Amino acid sequence: MKVTAKAPVNIALIKYWGKLDEEKVVPFNSSLSISLDSLYTLTTISESDNFMVTLNDRKLEGKEEEKVFNFLKNFASTNQLKNVKVESINYVPTAAGLSSSSSAFASLAIASNVFFNKNYSLDELTQIARLGSGSACRSIYGGFVAWEKDGKVYEIKSKFTDLVLISVIIDERKKAISSRDAMKITANTSPLYKYFVSESNNDFLLMKDALIRGDIKLVGKLAMKSFLMMHGAMLSSNPPILYINDVSIKVIELVSKMQNDDIYAYPTMDAGCNVKIITKEDSYLKVMKILNENGFTNLIVSRLGKGAMIIDE
Ligand code: DP6
Repeated sequence: MKVTAKAPVNIALIKYWGKLDEEKVVPFNSSLSISLDSLYTLTTISESDNFMVTLNDRKLEGKEEEKVFNFLKNFASTNQLKNVKVESINYVPTAAGLSSSSSAFASLAIASNVFFNKNYSLDELTQIARLGSGSACRSIYGGFVAWEKDGKVYEIKSKFTDLVLISVIIDERKKAISSRDAMKITANTSPLYKYFVSESNNDFLLMKDALIRGDIKLVGKLAMKSFLMMHGAMLSSNPPILYINDVSIKVIELVSKMQNDDIYAYPTMDAGCNVKIITKEDSYLKVMKILNENGFTNLIVSRLGKGAMIIDE
């Protein structure tokens, strides 16, 4: 038997950053993201003589392999897992702040559900997916997805249907510090963290409302505030966490200038130096032209994508 699942990468408009409960992956704040169409992970589970995991054709060892094994225990017994092979391909630069762990664990959860005959509901699968990586619970669904701090995950019907997201790839290398470690340091040491949490929980509600009404300017402004607050809290941590670099700042400044020219464009960033630009169909070619003219040519264009699904069994 062989099962293949596909799950989208999601990029948060209201960021999740910090866990109230590390083990159960309970976040301090509610978050909200978009599932993308052009960045995703394909995961295939099949029978094998021994347990094995590959990611982009590289065999995982030690802690990385153990993490997948422990995750799969949510679906199967240790004995069953001895004869399972997991092969994942990320169609996204791995660990470069483009959130490949979200699509990886969402696709693994959806594939395991069918491979091990579990019949969990999508709601149950969001709860399992987040144990692999918090943001993975949002990749179970498509479009705009909310993850409330009490655990509820659901899709939001928005009037903002022509969203385009441009990822400006500044550096594809693996980041120096994982988001898991970085968010822990931030939550434990940043004097600004409590403001990040209270503002995020408030802005989550405003963002939901703005999306439903299709108030795209407010969507962009709130998204920009969320990533700046997250990075502000990181910068004020001990030790400080610096994902933003001089090139990221150049892109952010460029995007701000575009707004003066009446182009709809707002930046966001995750745990890495790459910048993503939230824009829309009638602006994105202008945004790309300005980026190109300023030397930024490594760009990935995405639109709203579907949720995780089985594509072969
Ligand atoms: C900056 O979901 O990768 O992308 O739960 O520790 O695996 P863990 O963290 P992860 O963190 C994502 C953080 C973020 C913001 C977001 O996606 O909301």
